[in-house]
Amino acid sequence: MTVFNPDARVQLVLGTQWGDEGKGKIVDLLGEQHDVVARFQGGPNAGHTVQIEGEQFILHHIPSGILHDHTICVIGNGMVVDPETILTEIEELEDRGFEVCGRLLISENAHLILPYHKIIDKASEGFKEDAKIGTTGCGIGPAYADKIRREGFRAGDLLTRDWEARLREKVRINNLVLERVYGEPPVDAEDVIGLLLRFMDRLSASIADTMHYMQACLREKKRILLEGAQGTLLDIDFGTYPFVTSSNTTIGGVSTGLGIAPQRIDHTLGILKAYTTRVGNGPFPTELAGDFGDRLREMGGEYGATTGRPRRCGWLDLVAAKYAVQLNGVDSLCITKLDVLDTLDEIRICTAYDVQGDRTGEFPVSGEKLESVRPVYETVPGWKTRISSLTAYGDLPDAARAYLDRISDLLGIPVRIVSVGAGREQTIIL
Ligand code: GDP
Ligand code: IMO
Ligand code: MG
Repeated sequence: MTVFNPDARVQLVLGTQWGDEGKGKIVDLLGEQHDVVARFQGGPNAGHTVQIEGEQFILHHIPSGILHDHTICVIGNGMVVDPETILTEIEELEDRGFEVCGRLLISENAHLILPYHKIIDKASEGFKEDAKIGTTGCGIGPAYADKIRREGFRAGDLLTRDWEARLREKVRINNLVLERVYGEPPVDAEDVIGLLLRFMDRLSASIADTMHYMQACLREKKRILLEGAQGTLLDIDFGTYPFVTSSNTTIGGVSTGLGIAPQRIDHTLGILKAYTTRVGNGPFPTELAGDFGDRLREMGGEYGATTGRPRRCGWLDLVAAKYAVQLNGVDSLCITKLDVLDTLDEIRICTAYDVQGDRTGEFPVSGEKLESVRPVYETVPGWKTRISSLTAYGDLPDAARAYLDRISDLLGIPVRIVSVGAGREQTIIL
């Protein structure tokens, strides 16, 4: 497969919708031509699927470049790491023949998700009557909250002499919260220490100063691939708050989450699914409730890679995509899952919102406003042909090319990659 952008040393791949755009597949694909693949935010809430020769891998913490044996994979300081599930993830990869620990670096400043974070995440959702977020239950919000409150526990803390005493104190305080606020049973501090000792047993040599490592890679002109998790509309600042995740999923997250200056990013590739999905609650203007939404879910296999939950499905929303393109300075697009639309007679594209009679192309930042917009659609013909075995742009049916061209025109940036199936090889590079 040819490199789509040979001049870019540092490339960023990020989601332009509500996550699950197919980032994992594309990072794996591009990973072949990179030396380092790094994640900068999020944690095991991510579920990034890679399919190679019919075999499926779902990555949660480990960057999706791990399946190429030459890459170094970095977990940046902006991530939150669950010691329990990362060990399982590594074990599963190693059982399938991939060497992981020797190629993995974990920032000493990455915060750990501890058992009480997961309990609080699930319990606090149970308390909300009207604004349940529908989190993944992985403890993401509580772990980031501890970071911001300056009460977190970092990977590098495990390398200090008195970490066990400090951890016992954190467990003691959090047990008070668990019991008094949530009525949950306490966590056993010795169990948590046991878990962290197992984590250290496997990964102590991986804990590193990843900021200086990334800087050395930049100096040595290594090819670096940055892997976003979640999507732009789940960003804590720019997403559909409060129905968002707890990190900056947008381009700024790279700088704060890895220590790479913004101007060092040579190319930003926005991943855009050919339709829209969302898992969890919150506004979704182009959602297709009812039978057609169900049909789209079945055609696209739209079930969460982390939680197995059915994803909500709808038409492509270019008002939201335009917002993501502007916010992230997206240079080019990768359109994924185009094959899922193969059987449709016609396809709709949302090109504007109607806000109480006024038409706008601007994505409202207020969630309440977004709840009340009505999508304005343009309808284009479907292609009614199977495209999943095609490998050249020129072989795509006219209607499929017209759909891609329309997206590119309306967003004002080129389409560089088209994905027509889950497999590595089911990809068209323009
Ligand atoms: P990510 O979180 O952005 O990495 O995306 P997920 O892995 O959560 O969801 C994408 C799903 O679509 C996975 O099951 C992929 O295997 C699958 N997939 C990716 N690209 C394509 C494609 O072009 N066509 C089809 N049919 N499936 C795809
Ligand atoms: P990838 O990287 C889709 C959603 C959850 C919920 C909200 C907050 O696979 O695209 P959290 O557990 O982060 O506190 O949940 O964010 N969410 C995702 N949705 N893809 C993801 O990751 C997601 N990670 C979190 O469903 O609505
Ligand atoms: Mg996913």
